[in-house]
Amino acid sequence: MNKIIIANWKMSLSLKQSLNLLANYKQALKSKKTKNQIIVCPDFLSLAYLAAKKQDKRTFPFYLGSQTIGHLKYGALTGEISAFNLKKIGVNYSIIGHSERRQMGEDNDLILKKIKTALNAKLRPIVCFGEKNKMSKKKSQAFIEKQIKQCFSGLKKQEVEKIIIAYEPVWAIGSKNPCLAKDANLIHKEIKDMVLKNFSASVKVLYGGSVDDKNAKDYLAYENIDGLLVGGASLSIFQFKKIINY
Ligand code: PGA
Repeated sequence: MNKIIIANWKMSLSLKQSLNLLANYKQALKSKKTKNQIIVCPDFLSLAYLAAKKQDKRTFPFYLGSQTIGHLKYGALTGEISAFNLKKIGVNYSIIGHSERRQMGEDNDLILKKIKTALNAKLRPIVCFGEKNKMSKKKSQAFIEKQIKQCFSGLKKQEVEKIIIAYEPVWAIGSKNPCLAKDANLIHKEIKDMVLKNFSASVKVLYGGSVDDKNAKDYLAYENIDGLLVGGASLSIFQFKKIINY
């Protein structure tokens, strides 16, 4: 089955490094066609360069995503970026509510506004949820349910179905201490059931948090894990090539 693999480059690279990595991705995807859908999310400056270069779909067999968006269509939001402008340059996805953004002050209300703006701009939101610290199954389930209910509050079934959820336990991000694939699979099932119960919607749920070329295969083997959100390992073409070809 086809899975969705997202590369989140965060703010890790210089512009030159981003362009080099892009050339390596192109090469890797040209030499071996993957059955998976690839979405690359570079920093904004690199994103603009990549979008300008990405005119020919055959040589760029992946989609572009942003790492965040501003919550308004346009307006007085110094330092923010308009989802509508991103859409115009060929961006189709946006990560929203990543835990690193939440740590900078984004809350569930703001995330809901950003989701609505993304949907209006016809960007598909990739919305991140996850508990901060390791906790019991019951507690983490309740925590995530609260996050989802607040972030999706008032959205219609058709809107929720456009959203891709990323389950990213914060303790697993960049820690080399990932959530075990079998545990993640159970949580993904619970998230899907919860969204079905509350919004009558079926959603795809991806796992993120210390995914690498060794553990990716385990996650992708589970039916409730629809793909991966990869941070650190997406910066290494050696690792990412392996991950996208499982
Ligand atoms: P990581 O990051 O793969 O480096 O843990 C994942 C993320 O932050 O989305």
